Amino acid sequence: MEVQSKNTILRVDHLKAGYGGKTVLNDISFDVKKGEIRMILGSSGCGKSTLLNNILKLIKSQSGTITYFGKTFGAKEGLDSETRMRTGVLFQNGALLSDLTVAENAMLPLIRSMPYMPKSQMEAIVADRLEKVHLLDAFHKYPSELSGGMKKRAALARAIALKPELLFCDEPSTGLDPVTARSLDELLLELRDTLGVSMVIVSHELESIKIICDRFVYLQDGYVLMDGTLQQGLDSENPTLWNFFRRECPPEKDNNEYYHFDFLD
Ligand SMILES: Nc1ncnc2c1ncn2[C@@H]1O[C@H](COP(=O)(O)OP(=O)(O)OP(=O)(O)O)[C@@H](O)[C@H]1O
Ligand SMILES: [Mg+2]
Repeated sequence: MEVQSKNTILRVDHLKAGYGGKTVLNDISFDVKKGEIRMILGSSGCGKSTLLNNILKLIKSQSGTITYFGKTFGAKEGLDSETRMRTGVLFQNGALLSDLTVAENAMLPLIRSMPYMPKSQMEAIVADRLEKVHLLDAFHKYPSELSGGMKKRAALARAIALKPELLFCDEPSTGLDPVTARSLDELLLELRDTLGVSMVIVSHELESIKIICDRFVYLQDGYVLMDGTLQQGLDSENPTLWNFFRRECPPEKDNNEYYHFDFLD
């Protein structure tokens, strides 16, 4: 059995998952190292959000294990509260509660995990997190008063409320204009550098991927088509990856040998 490196924050081993009788993910394995931004890529409907939901144990998996910070959880097990506290999530739609202010939204993980903490202390923590996402001005505002980019940053403040060691983000910059998307990407890099948080990010925004990705897994037909660095992805001659990373069809080859699949060993 492979000895897990101290630098490995998360390991997904032979995960099989789906809905009812339908299998979406057949056999997925990859790891996340300390301080890296690991991206989950693939075409729409390939199972990226399903993978995230299974890693977070929001859905029960069919088989396989997930190891967080050296602690392994089986397919039917939920995460324990310690692991949850060390993990933050930014959902695809932000999922802010509309009848709570930005500060109250960001306070929710603190109320859930440390209900006896004095309110003034919670407010100080939330102010710090809002400052980190450059949104302190919106402390008393309601979600309906925020722009799309501000909503994402408010949701991000909530996701980092407990200073997680591992942050999951589903499509953080999708739906934002290019300038706002860029500033959110820069914010994610800043948080990685200042908080030392490792990240698992789902995205199909190529501009974002090129800025923030350290390593990625590309999903296809329920399997990992490629696990590699951004540069390896950009250089790949696999037609699917060529198409994904260059947004164009690969050139025709003369012979029938076609492309190398040397990463599929
Ligand atoms: N709650 C659900 N019940 C049944 N099937 C589902 C459910 N959620 C997703 N699926 C199916 O699982 C497959 C993967 O969906 P998923 O949302 O994980 O894809 P995705 O890669 O995140 O797509 P996108 O890039 O569009 O967000 C799709 O075929 C989808 O129809
Ligand atoms: Mg999705």
